Amino acid sequence: MFYEPAKNDHGLPHSPLKAIIAPRPIGWISSLSADGIANLAPYSFFNMIGDDPALVMFSSTSRKDSVANIEATGEFVCSLAIADLIDEVNVSSAAVPPDVSEFDLTGLAKAPSRLVKPPRVAAAPAALECVHVETIQLKGRDGRKADQYMVIGEVVGVFIDDAAIVDGRFDAARVHSLARCGYLDYSAIEHLMERARPGRASLPGMVEALRAKHAAE
Ligand SMILES: Cc1cc2nc3c(=O)[nH]c(=O)nc-3n(C[C@H](O)[C@H](O)[C@H](O)COP(=O)(O)O)c2cc1C
Repeated sequence: MFYEPAKNDHGLPHSPLKAIIAPRPIGWISSLSADGIANLAPYSFFNMIGDDPALVMFSSTSRKDSVANIEATGEFVCSLAIADLIDEVNVSSAAVPPDVSEFDLTGLAKAPSRLVKPPRVAAAPAALECVHVETIQLKGRDGRKADQYMVIGEVVGVFIDDAAIVDGRFDAARVHSLARCGYLDYSAIEHLMERARPGRASLPGMVEALRAKHAAE
């Protein structure tokens, strides 16, 4: 099959696009309202987009509380969603008024951040403390503005639970980092597959192995 997203002519019960662009990491975004209420919501239009400075982004479909808070206060935290907390992640996405804290709604404990004011999710094994850099209203190829707001933040501090570090590496398989797939689906990291990058010496052997594999097919 083939379809054009702008025409939404896939003929399926639901758009398959988010199931294709999957798994998507979840930024579990905490922020403070101007009144100091701790807001928490998951965003799977979320990723790291730069190393130096360390930049992350999440994208909000319509201007949601997280965007308003971050623009008002200039700070947010991305806690790491894990499989053990899938129901807390889900409930924290409820459309509740801005004066209701999703920390209270989910029963999740807050832990203080070091360099920014919004708290992190205490049970999350890692959290990124961020300072707002800019919000970009996205647009399509015709220049038409989308009701989509990409918030970019610089990571100024990183919390990691010591138990998540194994042999000097953050072990995503041990903590079962949670990701969003299509429809109502999630996935969790259960095992990792390591590959050394091709180098001058190793590339010929790697190419030869691929040729042998494809010849056998
Ligand atoms: C796993 C998951 C991922 C989500 N990702 C997004 C997203 O990328 N963008 C978005 O606008 N809403 C997303 N949502 C919905 C928001 O979490 C929901 O609208 C929430 O109420 C927003 O909270 P806020 O208004 O406090 O920011 C997601 C929901 C779930 C459960």
